[in-house]
Amino acid sequence: MGATKPFLADIKEIRRRARKNLDRGAVTANYGGDTRDAIELLNHAVATEIVCVLRYKLHAVCATGLSSESVKNEFEQHAKEEEEHLDLLAERINQLGGKPNMHPEGLLARAASEYVEGEDLVDMIKEDLVAERIAVETYREMVRYFGENDPTTRTLLERILAQEEEHANDMHDLLVAHEGRPMLEG
Ligand SMILES: [Fe+2]
Ligand SMILES: [Fe+2]
Repeated sequence: MGATKPFLADIKEIRRRARKNLDRGAVTANYGGDTRDAIELLNHAVATEIVCVLRYKLHAVCATGLSSESVKNEFEQHAKEEEEHLDLLAERINQLGGKPNMHPEGLLARAASEYVEGEDLVDMIKEDLVAERIAVETYREMVRYFGENDPTTRTLLERILAQEEEHANDMHDLLVAHEGRPMLEG
């Protein structure tokens, strides 16, 4: 009989802890990892996304020439999506009891991606492809890191990862379409 009751006992204990540690918000006792490490990792991703938003916005403005209207739109679209990633990461950091680090100082050092202006359209596309490939690799690593310890963060990162893979694919398609073509100055 006793063997069939532990889950009921667990629920009582869970209820007790839930009432006791209200200051910890969404973070409960069975959080599988170290929230400080999680927040620090997520803040690296925040910095990466900010750099990506800024770089795509610059590229969207600087893309000139007749052939670049569709590229410009693609850059704008990506800038928007990187900003959505930033918001999602910042919200998650807040849920984990941390503060998103948006400070401009040291931003590039915290980010995995680089801010490269690019000499011409093809160069910009190439740099964005490089940044997306960096993002794909770092998010994949993070998904593995969070694993079963923090399924919410992992699921969030998986969603972002899938979109970064789409971005990389978009940039690759643009590169194939534009490489070798003379740049049309606008
Ligand atoms: Fe992103
Ligand atoms: Fe991206």
